Amino acid sequence: MATPLSPASPAPAPAAPAPLLDVRDLHVEFRTRDGVARAVNGVDYSVAAGETLAVLGESGSGKSVTAQAIMGILEAPPGRVTRGEILFQGRDLLKLTEEERRKVRGAGLAMIFQDALSALNPVLSVGDQLGEMFVVHRGMSRKDARARAVELMDRVRIPAARERAGQYPHQFSGGMRQRIMIAMAMALEPALIIADEPTTALDVTVQAQVMDLLAELKGELDMGLILITHDLGVVADVADTIAVMYAGRIVEKAPVHELYRAPAHPYTRGLLASIPRLDHKGRDLYAIKGLPPSLLRVPPGCAFHPRCPMARDVCRTEVPPLARVTYEGFAGERRSACHFWKECLRG
Ligand SMILES: Nc1ncnc2c1ncn2[C@@H]1O[C@H](COP(=O)(O)OP(=O)(O)O)[C@@H](O)[C@H]1O
Ligand code: SF4
Ligand SMILES: [Mg+2]
Repeated sequence: MATPLSPASPAPAPAAPAPLLDVRDLHVEFRTRDGVARAVNGVDYSVAAGETLAVLGESGSGKSVTAQAIMGILEAPPGRVTRGEILFQGRDLLKLTEEERRKVRGAGLAMIFQDALSALNPVLSVGDQLGEMFVVHRGMSRKDARARAVELMDRVRIPAARERAGQYPHQFSGGMRQRIMIAMAMALEPALIIADEPTTALDVTVQAQVMDLLAELKGELDMGLILITHDLGVVADVADTIAVMYAGRIVEKAPVHELYRAPAHPYTRGLLASIPRLDHKGRDLYAIKGLPPSLLRVPPGCAFHPRCPMARDVCRTEVPPLARVTYEGFAGERRSACHFWKECLRG
């Protein structure tokens, strides 16, 4: 007797490309005289080539410490990674030697800091600083390196690049200096750039220009970009995904449009409500009450409970897991660490 054909098994889904960067269950603490600051408490995030992940949160939430751990520039001691993995192009950076990490920093990973003036060398002309990258990492002659430096300055749209290459960092405006930082970070065409509050020190118009430039270059080079900011208003147009951090944890992670449309965490809701909007001119801005906790004394249960307008008893004792958020019409990856994300989502 012929056996009935079993229904065709579905073709295996093509394996998703391995992310460029995959941070898993990262924990970082600082042992200080006042006690142990748990700055990062189990952060998971990943970034693919061509993707922009914005990491958002008030000051002191562990955004920069996470970035420093990825770059291998954590101040240690007092800082220490106590748990987790940082997979970059499939290799766990935490298992590499200092020498190997330096190589990764040269060509694979680069960082842009908030304060260009202190990140750049004050006694070297910007042309020499940019050129140095090509001399050291690419073995170019000084003359060729200088030509490449001028090209890069052009590319980040510094007017009269050839003439200005001989000038020193303090002779540039804040916005132009930040462009030089971007040029430095891009020089070796890294696979991933981490920009830590790259526009915080700039005025609003210049902020937008620098952000546009970053987005444009990222697109051209198909890099991954992690954009750290405390300002949700800045990232709306450039981010693909947003991870919101609070007290060393990710409390919400979502595609940018979904997050704006309907936040699934009361903290995100508060951050969104405090963005100045042109159409709300004259109205008082909402501010989340209170301050973020000291990471020396994170509240029990949900760390946000002392400030949360939706908090209930369970919030004071049970840590909410970073649960999968699903709803009709959305099949992507989205998460919230709130016991009541469904209610929050409904608004
Ligand atoms: N060098 C350090 N020494 C001691 N504690 C630190 C140090 N750097 C960071 N921390 C701790 O980590 C917390 C998070 O810092 P950070 O990641 O810089 O916050 P942000 O989200 O503003 O970037 C700080 O509030 C502090 O408790
Ligand atoms: S778990 Fe409770 S306290 Fe925390 S965000 Fe949700 S409702 Fe607020
Ligand atoms: Mg910071």
